[in-house]
Amino acid sequence: MTAINDVVDLTREGEIAVITLDSPPVNALSAQLRAGIAQAVEQAVADDAAKAIVLTCAGRTFCAGADITEFGKPPKDPSLSAVQAVIEAAPKPVIAAIHGTALGGGLELALSCHYRVAVPSARCGLPEVKLGILPGAGGTQRLPRIVGAEQALEMITSGAHVTAKDAAAMGLFDKLVAEGNLREDAIAFAREVIASGAPLKKVRDLDEAIAPARGKPEIFAEFRKKNARKFRGFEAPEACIQAVEAAVEKPFEEGLKFERALFEKLVASEQSAAQRYAFFAEREAAKIPDIPKDTPTREIARVGMIGAGTMGGGISMNFLNAGIPVTIVETNQDALDRGLATIRKNYENSAKRGRLSMEDVEKRMALITPSLALDDLADCDLVIEAVFELMEVKKEIFTKLDGICKPGAIMASNTSYLDIDKIASVTSRPGDVLGMHFFSPANVMRLLEVVRGEKTEKDVVATAMALGKRIGKVAVCVGVAHGFVGNRMLSERQREANNLIMEGAMPWDVDRVLHDFGLPMGPFAMADLAGLDLGWTPENSTGETAKERLCEIDRRGQKNGKGFYDYDENRKATPSKVTEEIILDLSRAKGITRRAISDQEILERCIYPMINEGAKILQEGKALRASDIDIVWLTGYGWPVYRGGPMFYADTIGLDKVVAALETYAKSLGPDFEPAELLVRTAKEGKRISEM
Ligand code: CAA
Repeated sequence: MTAINDVVDLTREGEIAVITLDSPPVNALSAQLRAGIAQAVEQAVADDAAKAIVLTCAGRTFCAGADITEFGKPPKDPSLSAVQAVIEAAPKPVIAAIHGTALGGGLELALSCHYRVAVPSARCGLPEVKLGILPGAGGTQRLPRIVGAEQALEMITSGAHVTAKDAAAMGLFDKLVAEGNLREDAIAFAREVIASGAPLKKVRDLDEAIAPARGKPEIFAEFRKKNARKFRGFEAPEACIQAVEAAVEKPFEEGLKFERALFEKLVASEQSAAQRYAFFAEREAAKIPDIPKDTPTREIARVGMIGAGTMGGGISMNFLNAGIPVTIVETNQDALDRGLATIRKNYENSAKRGRLSMEDVEKRMALITPSLALDDLADCDLVIEAVFELMEVKKEIFTKLDGICKPGAIMASNTSYLDIDKIASVTSRPGDVLGMHFFSPANVMRLLEVVRGEKTEKDVVATAMALGKRIGKVAVCVGVAHGFVGNRMLSERQREANNLIMEGAMPWDVDRVLHDFGLPMGPFAMADLAGLDLGWTPENSTGETAKERLCEIDRRGQKNGKGFYDYDENRKATPSKVTEEIILDLSRAKGITRRAISDQEILERCIYPMINEGAKILQEGKALRASDIDIVWLTGYGWPVYRGGPMFYADTIGLDKVVAALETYAKSLGPDFEPAELLVRTAKEGKRISEM
């Protein structure tokens, strides 16, 4: 075996040259790896005894694509395209042998080989769109030449991973070989290719798959229309569509140039910087400085869920989906039956949409042990309570749990605001208590705030973080504070949204501005969706807010077709005259002279106080890093990923500008806008808050 460099080896097995890439953890295409591949191929080509070349990867995966950490830095030679040119021009067949994942530049590398063989567990895809870019090494030009324009559009604009079976069906993989013997089977395949004497097949020369889409712009127009909602606000998907259209309409080399120009533009964009930041931020969130990765975790074989309501049911589904049995406890049979029926209905809806088989529905339902007795939680390794948000109620539950749970069991609260330390204090084992805060709908939203109490044991935190990953959540470790990270910041926005409608804006103005900013919906549409009467009773109504006034006249939100908005039978919202009157009346009663409020002011007053609160959270050490705060907003509240998160967004605006605006608002509107010390200091030092 010849070491080409630290990360690439070349060896020969009879007449087959084998190149092995070995750059842990994921064989990302660093400059060193690229140089090594080009050199190894050149040597194999020069070796007359080698009749074919197998390109394989060591470690857990084939290749995760370009090294994302290199983006934004001066490019280093050789470029991936130059390496591909060497492979494609090789006068002997080059065969990519794929296991794990072939993603982005990794798949593009494989597409410049003459053949691709893979094991059945392999997956491939072009996920660049998720980083705000497009496949910039010929992916948009070569992929359609194999799978056709329509499949390529789907794959490239979604960034989704494709299974080996599907890839083989599309012709993307030439052969699937048995698991565990990839290298040898790829060598055997190479021998077959040599024996067949087949002429070299270059993907760039194929035309059959793209010909049907030629001269048919309507294919692309329809695709845009169909996905308009999904692509809203994003720049990369449109560029991907244009590049695939170019693959169909232009000669290969021209298409490549077109793709390159689009890539260069996207890679330098703010959106791509934000999306790349989000990629690393998500991985960073898993790391807790004083809890090393190898901290032993407790085994979670059975989960107990207290409460079968919307939250309890949604949370339970996460565990059922991961094959973990759940004991669900309710206080009465009706509530229990209703909870189980909702879970079943959700699964059956997934089955109707083809996302689940009926057999799977039954399998998951069978993992539930329904119960009316807390005592039945005695064998659970983790118990999560999702009962009424009242400290006294929580304390009562935890006192009982302390007497019921087995030693070593973890006791968690799904509270969205309350003090975990106070809850833990009623137990004899506060080290086993923590918050596990899920976000509604709990079976869908990816965020899990893991709330670390003052006394929570390290292995308990580590277990909750690992469990989060196991059930497909993004777990973020946060400290005890009213509303933790997400809701604490949300309260700031809500306060300002309420003030804005008193001062001159209407709910639909605020909602429109935030929707245009990229959020799925604004605060008033969200309130209508959640139900305006949440926590409201006629007895406790002060009648001083628009929300309370609306409840008083039975406008309860979407559920009864009227709230801040009026809803038609298709749940389409229109601004309500009644709401408008109520708001004008309230302003009058408070002696406020209403004024025209600009969209810019609405945006700043909703977002800047959130950023400010984020800085306070950081200052107090309630979040480990600014990027964790951003991940909370990206995965729990639908913050548009192309804006990176509130803290990243503050940096794109310019921290000094944010501080100046807060100071101006503080003068006219009061101390709520006083900028946090950390924000002021970071701005002064010219640093980025998102890197704190
Ligand atoms: N570049 C640099 N680092 C990468 C990377 C990449 N392409 N892909 C993964 N990593 C790093 C991660 O940051 C992580 O680092 P830490 O351990 O320090 O946190 C480590 O590799 C392991 O990654 P994961 O924790 O994500 O491991 P996993 O096993 O859960 O997933 C994976 C592996 C499916 C490959 C996943 O990492 C992934 O999806 N990676 C990104 C793939 C991608 O987007 N590729 C396209 C790159 S852009 C491109 O190729 C442009 C082009 O056209 C040339």
